[in-house]
Amino acid sequence: MHEFTFKGNELYCEDIKISAIAGRVPTPFYLYSYKTLLDHYRKLRLAFSAISPLICFSVKSNSNIAILRALVKNGAGLDIVSGGELYRARLAGADPKKIVYAGVGKRPDEIEDAINAGILFFNVESEEELDAIQRIAASLERRVNVAIRINPDVVPRTHSHIATGKGDTKFGLDFETVHKIFNSQWRYPNLNIRGVHIHIGSQIVDGDPFEEAIKKVLSFLKKYKIEVGHFNIGGGLGIIYSIENPQTAKNFAKRVLPILKRARLKIILEPGRFISGNSGILVTKVLYTKITPRNTFVIVDGGMSDLIRPSLYTAYHKIVPVKVKQDSAQTCEKVDVVGPICESGDYLGKDRFLPMMRKGDLLAVMGAGAYGFAMSSNYNSRPRAAEVMVMKGKVHIIRRQESYADLVRGESIPKELK
Ligand SMILES: Cc1ncc(COP(=O)(O)O)c(C=O)c1O
Repeated sequence: MHEFTFKGNELYCEDIKISAIAGRVPTPFYLYSYKTLLDHYRKLRLAFSAISPLICFSVKSNSNIAILRALVKNGAGLDIVSGGELYRARLAGADPKKIVYAGVGKRPDEIEDAINAGILFFNVESEEELDAIQRIAASLERRVNVAIRINPDVVPRTHSHIATGKGDTKFGLDFETVHKIFNSQWRYPNLNIRGVHIHIGSQIVDGDPFEEAIKKVLSFLKKYKIEVGHFNIGGGLGIIYSIENPQTAKNFAKRVLPILKRARLKIILEPGRFISGNSGILVTKVLYTKITPRNTFVIVDGGMSDLIRPSLYTAYHKIVPVKVKQDSAQTCEKVDVVGPICESGDYLGKDRFLPMMRKGDLLAVMGAGAYGFAMSSNYNSRPRAAEVMVMKGKVHIIRRQESYADLVRGESIPKELK
């Protein structure tokens, strides 16, 4: 469920007409519903209330500091994967004791900053990384909590680019290596190896792979009598983009709670998409339409530099007109909605049935709140879009549209070329 709904023939965000926002904010822009964001977070919290897990929102899915602040203020922790995300987490006022840090390539300076910040856990992905954290912790005379990311070798049945829990990916460590690490804890005098972590992939719509991975980890811990305090079961819950029928938070909890309760461990969840995905859309404007012998193209001002998921993963995002005109409603035609970027892979939707579009019409690309702006770029020297949040009846610009000056910030021409 989300708060982007038609009232009459106009699309609204909560109680505000999106066309009115587009009158004030240059397109394309991302638009978020605070209520939807919070609803999804609370749904998960409620579903798991029997074990009061720590819910660490995955910053990579949407890293705007206003979004992070909204969740942090309501009790969320954060899952980070870089020094930049730690910087954002701190600006959002996150409690360091609710920050977990994953990622296969943490740099020494990033590790040092995170130790100094006093984060809850490093989720460690290799033996060399463990050595690096030990070395840096020793030099800072600190003891640091680490969890070992296990690669449980399960098939999450999602797009290969976002499947992380299979044995052939770069993520986590195999059971044998994890066993070896727990048996040689003396090598790491500055580390408390107190947790295990899994994250098997993203946009996973059924519970089987989660259950399989959780069971695999718990029976591994039992078999080798490994004692830890925390089990981070990752993120990855799928959402509805088109015809998916993903497990609800309630169903997911019903399935895994009995297993987790028996384990008597403090549970951490790190969802991104489930919380932010359907709380945002991309609003874009029609620049031109073009009919060729083979296709009808609706050329809009938002493209793969704004929302790369269709080009990168052939991801489907529903596209709807922001205003349905009476005269056009009956005359849907099959079109490709494409962006202005000079790549034939630059599209937002192919073979879509839309009412006849005209120059200046607005389209909403739904379900764009996760991995939307966060993955956007300046390709083709296009300033990145503004981000707007509707909250309690008000419209807030939470990131202004970039300017041309922003595009070249940090660049310089060598003296010899002047
Ligand atoms: C370690 C880790 N945790 C959590 C997430 C969030 O995943 P999702 O947005 O599918 O919930 C990701 C996404 O890639 C991740 O890599």
